[in-house]
Amino acid sequence: MTANIIDGKLMAQELREQLAQKVAHLPTPPHLAVILVGNDEASIIYDRNKKKAAEAIGMQCTIHHLDENTPQEELLQLIHRLNTDSAVNGIIVQMPLPKHFNSEQIIESIDHAKDVDGFGIYNIGLLHSNDSSAMVAATPQAVLYMLQQTLGNIAGKHAVIIGRSNIVGRPLASLLLNNHCTVTIAHSKTVNLPQIAASADILVSACGVAKLVKKEWIKPGATVIDVGINRIDGKLCGDVDFDEAKEIAEYITPVPGGVGPMTVTMLLNNTLRAYIEQNSGLKK
Ligand code: GUN
Repeated sequence: MTANIIDGKLMAQELREQLAQKVAHLPTPPHLAVILVGNDEASIIYDRNKKKAAEAIGMQCTIHHLDENTPQEELLQLIHRLNTDSAVNGIIVQMPLPKHFNSEQIIESIDHAKDVDGFGIYNIGLLHSNDSSAMVAATPQAVLYMLQQTLGNIAGKHAVIIGRSNIVGRPLASLLLNNHCTVTIAHSKTVNLPQIAASADILVSACGVAKLVKKEWIKPGATVIDVGINRIDGKLCGDVDFDEAKEIAEYITPVPGGVGPMTVTMLLNNTLRAYIEQNSGLKK
């Protein structure tokens, strides 16, 4: 058996067309502000892609590119300015920030109604309380969307997530629990990781270790979602050994062309939602 490929690029394209139609009917374009500090090459590429994707569906995106040595206070002032600017609907600060920043304080300074990354404690609390008004981080939303598009109802399935980061593993665990999965979070200290992974109906890897997940880690017929973005000899690869896994899994995401394109789309979806809520008086 060879697995069916979950085509994230195609799914993202279809969803972006739907978003573009919604944006076209608004009186003004939703506006996403992206704050980028320093010259991390990957971050510059990610943010350029976000701007391109936003503009392609008719949204406005402003990148505020600050010097590596910008003081914490200056970044807080910029965020305050964007918080109080009614023409800005969403604010994200590209992570990781240079080491001298207190990232938690920066994240918490973003107005929760504009926190389209869903990284702030307020939105995390809503998500963990199964409150549908939570603004949920883009990558976990992308994973859920791809699972629902592929499998339909995921209630009762055993989902194993490898990775416990604040950006992916933890919020994804809540999101899948809210959607009635039985959830196991595994991580670098987990004993018997291959056996636990092999008990999953849905296996999500978000640990950043290239080709960690081998065929023995996969239950025949499982759905495998690979969130990893790694490089081996300059070539992109995921956390899953794709060539092995595709012989065992029923559905699998490739890297590149899987979760990545869907993540940017979900950020745009959050920005549209923030715009609608801010303009309908649903949220301040
Ligand atoms: N760094 C890696 N992923 C993300 C993301 O989703 N948002 C932000 N702001 N920074 C990131």
